[in-house]
Order: sequence, then C-alpha cells, then structure tokens
Amino acid sequence: MNKKRLIIDDTFYVGCNDRKIELFENIYPLFKGVSYNSYLIIDNKTCLLDTVDLSKEHEFVDKVQDVLGERKLDYLVIHHMESDHSASIKRILELYPECIVTLTNKAKEMFYNFNSIELKNYMIVKENDILNLGKHSLTFIMAPMVHWPEVMVSYDNYTKTLFSADAFGTFNCLDGNLLTNKNDFKDNFLFEARRYYCNIVGKYGLQVQSLLNKASKLEIKNIFPLHGPLWNQDLDYIIDKYNTWSKYEYEEKGVLIVYGSIYGHSENCANLIGDYLAENNIKNIKIYDSSRIDKSFLVSEAFKYSHLVIVASTYNLGIFTPLEEFLLDLKYHNYQNRIVGIVENGSWSPTSMKLSKEIFVFMKNINVLEESFSFKSSVKEENKNDIENLVNKIVETLK
Ligand code: FEO
Repeated sequence: MNKKRLIIDDTFYVGCNDRKIELFENIYPLFKGVSYNSYLIIDNKTCLLDTVDLSKEHEFVDKVQDVLGERKLDYLVIHHMESDHSASIKRILELYPECIVTLTNKAKEMFYNFNSIELKNYMIVKENDILNLGKHSLTFIMAPMVHWPEVMVSYDNYTKTLFSADAFGTFNCLDGNLLTNKNDFKDNFLFEARRYYCNIVGKYGLQVQSLLNKASKLEIKNIFPLHGPLWNQDLDYIIDKYNTWSKYEYEEKGVLIVYGSIYGHSENCANLIGDYLAENNIKNIKIYDSSRIDKSFLVSEAFKYSHLVIVASTYNLGIFTPLEEFLLDLKYHNYQNRIVGIVENGSWSPTSMKLSKEIFVFMKNINVLEESFSFKSSVKEENKNDIENLVNKIVETLK
C-alpha cells in the first residue's frame, strides 16, 4: 500500500527511498540512503517526470498506477538518462505504450544505447520548447553537463516550479517529510548535500553557473530535484550555496589538514600544525587521516574551507597512496581558488613535495605557500621553525 503524496496543485510525488544502497554510483558510501524523486502531474493531460532506479521499480510503478487510477499516461518527461532515474522507463512504456516520451535528442540516443531499443512515441524538445498539459505547461531548459550532456530541467509555468534534475539534489532518504527549509536542511541535509554536489556535479561548475543564470530569469517558487528534499521556501539559501560551490569559492574560512601517514610521524606533524594554529586562535580546523576516511568526504571538506594543508609521506618513491588518491580526486573535481600548504615527509628519497606540486599545478588558482617544508622521518626540534613559519603564513592569509 502507498499513500498518495500531493505536493502542490495537481502534482504528486511518486519517488522512492533506497535505504539498502551502500555505494551511490558504486563508489560513494551512503549511510542514510538516497531518494529517487519522480513527479506526476494530473491535468487535462497526465505527465510523469522521470522514473527511478531499477531496485525501486516495483514500488514506483505501484505509486504511479495508484495516482493515475483509470487515467492513461500521456507524457513521460526524461530530464536525465543516468540509470538512477531512467532504469524504469522501459517498464513504464510496457504499461503505457501510447505515452509520448519527451526528451532531448541526446537523451534519445542514450535511451537506445542503454536499452538496445528505439523509442516509438517520442517528442524531441529544445531550449524553451513548451509542453501544454492544460492548466500546467512545462518550459524546457537545457542544462548540459549538470551532470551529463543530455540533461534538461523544466519549469511549470502554473505552479512556478523548477524540476531541477540532479541540481539541488542531495544524499539521504526522505523520512516522511518531503519539503525542507533552511533550518531543516542545515540540520539534516547540508553535510550530505555538499558531499553530493562536490563529488557528483562539482567538476561542472561552469555549467551549473550557466543553469543558475537561466534560472535567475524565472520566477521560481519551488525547486523539486531528483534526489533529496523539495524546496518551497528559503530558495535563496540553497541557490546561494550552489552559487558558492559552482564558483569554487570557499564557504568558511578555516584550515583542512589531511595527512597520509604510515607509522604516525606525518600524523604527529599534522597534529602539531593543528596545535600551533589553535594557539593562534584559529577555531576552524579539521584534521583527517586519508587512510581512514572515504575520499568523497575529504573532497567535500576541501570545497568547504579556504585553506588546505597536506602532510604527505613518501611511499615507493611516490605520494602515500591514500593521500595521492585524494589529491587526484581534487584535480578531477576541478578544485580551485585555495591556499595550500604542503609538508613532505621522506626517510631517504623524498618525492611527495615535488609530486604533490605536479598535481596542484593542474588546478586553477591554487596558491602553494612558499612556507611549505620537508622533514625527515619524524618531526624534531629543528623543524619547529618550519612549522611556525607555515602556521604564521596561514594565520596571516586567514585574516
Ligand atoms: Fe541522479 Fe546524474 O543522476
């Protein structure tokens, strides 16, 4: 049995929670699952917006059938062809073969590539095309690379709702309440929303900026994404977060220290840097062991804070692998506009300073501090000045 969830005039939520999933995209660990959102508008014409992951197909189809009742499905709009939203299209088309699939040309190609069948009833839409449903009409807005090339979003001119695809999405299931606001979001979603944004969409800041620019010309009263809670108030808050993240600006002044330590000596150095920063009244300090935390959390924290310090052990003439993977992930996600300190540890042939710089050089506007330094095997009294110099420079640049 399912409860019909009317969220705004004639618009029902027919999405599903997935609490069993452990790795989103088989890479990002989830602790409170994820929701696959889908919406169904019942007007003169009926229109389903996206589908859900295969794992939730049965529940999803039940919900769609419950809301449709005796009505047929007239349109299925595909905003995004990634499988977490498109895997149940085939089943919907088996049940409602007359329905017209409304999608971009690129999405149609992708549908074939994923399913090995051609769509029969479809309508290709482009920028600003309008689909009339009765009272409601959907204007389509192209949003390529937010987060795949075929992506579009749509705007319901009647309810002034932006159906935003992956944009404004977040990890975490919806525990009954579908709508959020600034305070609820801060308490229950912000940490995971940042991790979702940085890791899933973070690489595509320019394209997100382009979508925000288009959205700024619309009167938007609601934002309904494909993951996570729905917004009908405090829209400025989440739009401002997206603006900050997509411009690669920091949210908070603070120092993220990430170390790669084999026997604890680089860890000791990271702790010392934290101690010296704290003695200088720096409150916002976070220290992480790259061996002990998934990289997606580190990338998210790096996007949040203004400063990054890495303490990098040399390992097999390279950077200790967990830390190297974090640095490469920063590069892959277009990390930029930050102040970085590098501390190298090496017992006989240190390489991690040179190799770390070679990774950072590919990132835009990364200021690697000249006060970066090396030590051999363990921190000693003779390294105290180096630590103080680096900390003093960080404190100066934090002000
Ligand atoms: Fe939630 Fe890019 O799919």
